[in-house]
Amino acid sequence: MLPDLVQEGLSERRFRQLASLIEAEVGIRLPLVKRTMVEGRLRKRAMALGLPGVDSYCRALFEEGLLDAEYQDVVDLVTTNKTDFFREADHFDILANTAVPVLLEARGTRPLKVWSAAASTGAEAYTIAMVLAELARGPHPGLAFRILGTDISTQVLEVARRAIYPEEMLSPVPPEMRRRYTLRALDPARRELRIVPELRQAVVFRQLNLMTASYPVDRDVDVVFCRNVLIYFERSVQQAVLERLCGHLRPGGFLFVGHAETSAGADLPGMRPAGSTIWQKVEGAA
Ligand SMILES: C[S@@+](CC[C@H](N)C(=O)[O-])C[C@H]1O[C@@H](n2cnc3c(N)ncnc32)[C@H](O)[C@@H]1O
Repeated sequence: MLPDLVQEGLSERRFRQLASLIEAEVGIRLPLVKRTMVEGRLRKRAMALGLPGVDSYCRALFEEGLLDAEYQDVVDLVTTNKTDFFREADHFDILANTAVPVLLEARGTRPLKVWSAAASTGAEAYTIAMVLAELARGPHPGLAFRILGTDISTQVLEVARRAIYPEEMLSPVPPEMRRRYTLRALDPARRELRIVPELRQAVVFRQLNLMTASYPVDRDVDVVFCRNVLIYFERSVQQAVLERLCGHLRPGGFLFVGHAETSAGADLPGMRPAGSTIWQKVEGAA
């Protein structure tokens, strides 16, 4: 049989219906200019279900009771999960050289708690783990740490837990650290590296939607990274998410946001600027 030459598109009406759902549930704004992108991302799923296209898929979601069963797939598909090891590398220098020394004075020997709050496939959380492990080898012997990585997408969390990455994705990691903290696949043809068990054991990944009214996370976290997710949210949502996240920092704890998101953290109660994209919780703040 010949494949269909004309594929069914995504009508404006259906796109708007989907965009409203996503903004309400996930926080991500999807203006009309994103219609082609969304259509492209959902097409394979529609085809896998034997539907003629994305409009039929949306009809099935909203009018034929398919939404509950498909909800997680839709979320996985509409979220943008681009990430890198050592992305916005200055943050990791500041973490190592400014934040950790300050934090250790107050924390004593208790493990540092770090939260990567939009973790994607885990590159951010494992970068933090590598940086802290280096500090434990050098200037801060015995430094212990626990890292929590959360994301709304279950697909990326699976990758994060497996911790296997294409070799080229690890290229931003300094060679010495790459040797120390990754293992090569037994079959070299696979050109993959896996994060070593010692670091994997220090990182836990869980699903968490930043849009929920409260987060089931400890309230004495030392450092929160919330990078390159706020840009997708509307201003008031950015503010509400950051205020909730800061509620999980202990006094003296640090918040890092992405370089494109610096205005989002501008007026956070109980936080003082500690760099252009970094805030520190003031002592006595809730
Ligand atoms: C572009 S990635 C950023 C990853 C990493 N923080 C970095 O800077 O490299 C954004 C991540 O935010 C997640 N995300 C989007 N909306 C979310 C929400 N409401 N709650 C939790 N995670 C969300 C996406 O699934 C995606 O993995």
